[in-house]
Amino acid sequence: MDSRTMLQLSHMSKTYCSDAGSSVAALDGLDLTVGAGEFVVLIGPTGCGKTTLLNIVAGLDSPDAGEVRRANGLLPGRNMPCVFQHYTLFPWRTLLRNVTFGLEMRGTPRADRLAIAANLLAKVGLTGFEQAYPHELSGGMRQRAAIAQALATEPKLLLMDEPFGAVDDATRRDLQQALVDLWQEGGMTVLFVTHNIDEAVVLGSRVSILSARPGRIVREFRIDLPRPRRRTDGAFADQHLRIREALICETGKPDAA
Ligand SMILES: Nc1ncnc2c1ncn2[C@@H]1O[C@H](COP(=O)(O)OP(=O)(O)OP(=O)(O)O)[C@@H](O)[C@H]1O
Ligand SMILES: [Mg+2]
Repeated sequence: MDSRTMLQLSHMSKTYCSDAGSSVAALDGLDLTVGAGEFVVLIGPTGCGKTTLLNIVAGLDSPDAGEVRRANGLLPGRNMPCVFQHYTLFPWRTLLRNVTFGLEMRGTPRADRLAIAANLLAKVGLTGFEQAYPHELSGGMRQRAAIAQALATEPKLLLMDEPFGAVDDATRRDLQQALVDLWQEGGMTVLFVTHNIDEAVVLGSRVSILSARPGRIVREFRIDLPRPRRRTDGAFADQHLRIREALICETGKPDAA
């Protein structure tokens, strides 16, 4: 694996077996390489193994076959946090103390923790809500806070599993922009799962299509559109159409839902 590679999955397979003896093949011979600094979007039909893949990358599950190679210094539970569709904030902590949690665990001095959290909360548009509790916020605000929480410990690889799937369209667009801005500051690689082609084209530097279950990568598109990306541009519509056609061809469905 060369020094520009952040993550390399080779011939990865995973089958779930129930106590009753039935089995479900979730992934079958999946290959995926993610370069340092890339923003890779995974898109594929429901049940094709996307969450399984992220869980394996995050070290929460293990493959039955194949290999997961991570860049030197990329450590599960340390610098590769996962943001999920449903917010994972601690309900008993204020926003500020949610964002500082990982830093507390690391023993970062209090003054540094507060400065880092204030900076991140400002970047995700939550200045003024430091002392609020998660239940006092909208779903979109909670997801902003979850992003700030994930970024507090300077992840090398940010894993995101449909993080904006539960918010309205306008909020989703705001969150997409906030995430792209943070990614463009540099130093971070993103592996992002979505069902939404529009989101994939807005965000990705590469879009990888998974087949229906058992999943493996069947097509990849490099997205070279300039940023900020405008949905009204002809090139955006062309890219959207190409991905949609590939999804229909590979999965039989016009979208990944
Ligand atoms: N713990 C488990 N035990 C048994 N089967 C499982 C388990 N987790 C996932 N599966 C099965 O494995 C397949 C892949 O699941 P996974 O959650 O990875 O899909 P997904 O692509 O994330 O789907 P979605 O788009 O709906 O989130 C599905 O058929 C699912 O039912
Ligand atoms: Mg999933």
